Amino acid sequence: MSLREIFEQNPNRRYIMFGGKGGLGKTTFSAATAFWLAQQGHKVLVFSVDPQASLTDIFQKDIFGKGAVPIMQNLWAQEIDADKHIKDYQNEIRKKILDMYGFDAVPEEIEDYIQAASAEPAMEESAIFDAVVDIVVKGDYDYYIYDLVPLGHALYYLSMAKVYDEWINKITKLREEMREYETMVSRIKREKETDEDQILTELQYIKGRINASSSILTDKEKTAFFFVVVPEEMIILDTMKAAELFQKFDVPTAGYVVNRVLPPELRTQAVPAYLKNRLAMQSKYIDQINNSLGKQVLAQVPEMERDVTGLAMIEKLANIMYG
Ligand SMILES: Nc1ncnc2c1ncn2[C@@H]1O[C@H](COP(=O)(O)OP(=O)(O)OP(=O)(O)O)[C@@H](O)[C@H]1O
Ligand SMILES: [Mg+2]
Repeated sequence: MSLREIFEQNPNRRYIMFGGKGGLGKTTFSAATAFWLAQQGHKVLVFSVDPQASLTDIFQKDIFGKGAVPIMQNLWAQEIDADKHIKDYQNEIRKKILDMYGFDAVPEEIEDYIQAASAEPAMEESAIFDAVVDIVVKGDYDYYIYDLVPLGHALYYLSMAKVYDEWINKITKLREEMREYETMVSRIKREKETDEDQILTELQYIKGRINASSSILTDKEKTAFFFVVVPEEMIILDTMKAAELFQKFDVPTAGYVVNRVLPPELRTQAVPAYLKNRLAMQSKYIDQINNSLGKQVLAQVPEMERDVTGLAMIEKLANIMYG
């Protein structure tokens, strides 16, 4: 089956991800896919949580931290500014403290604590996670294309969702038990029901959001995760290892796309020895990929004559991928 057929036959898969090691073409394929889907008349958002600002490069437009920026008809691109989200968090905490205790200013010790907590890597993860959940839960688009960070990090992100989920589960349960206990005590004392438990409500809200997001990530009906691979020994090995790990997290692998394949017509031409060797090497690894992955290989994308940046190049690539 081709990439195009995969999309045509699974119209409910509206969360699209291209995963793979660094620099293999995730952003390129995300942009080309977004372009093609938008051209088909779907409303598409391609977004990135990568502070490396790669969508800004490929669309040649300043997108970072600006919300959903229109690119062309039906297509929007967004780069999440994690730092800004952390600052918003901090302000929210400050405001809560001021409101709660009636201070005029946040005491220095608390300010130090807020600053220290924001330096934690988990804080950035959580800010990014929250922003992604916001985007997805809103549901403004037909298709969401996640321009992912390199594999290891994407996996970390997925595992975070599971960890958050388990952690929230535990706390929610504890809280529910406590609430039952409190209700009982107040009944014995013939007091009226305890006030609505705000913490529990908050926890259930967070839990609902996490469930919504991680269930999307692992839902075969709604999500397609494609691996990007290139015909090179180490990349193939690493990709196979990663695919196994992803399976453990129930990420539904929709197939593989091979990138940077040297144009096959070169094989019949008189080319320098250097290129001849590279062609032979690639063809060996392409055979290896086809033998081990078979029908899961959905497309072979050629090495283009130049970097894929700007809409004209994106369109050219999209026509090859989906043409
Ligand atoms: N088929 C191709 N032909 C020519 N250039 C390509 C091709 N695919 C990708 N590139 C170029 O390779 C570079 C890396 O591609 P890209 O940014 O899509 O990789 P990535 O997997 O998103 O990287 P990162 O892991 O850093 O996010 C870019 O300059 C891109 O234009
Ligand atoms: Mg990228």
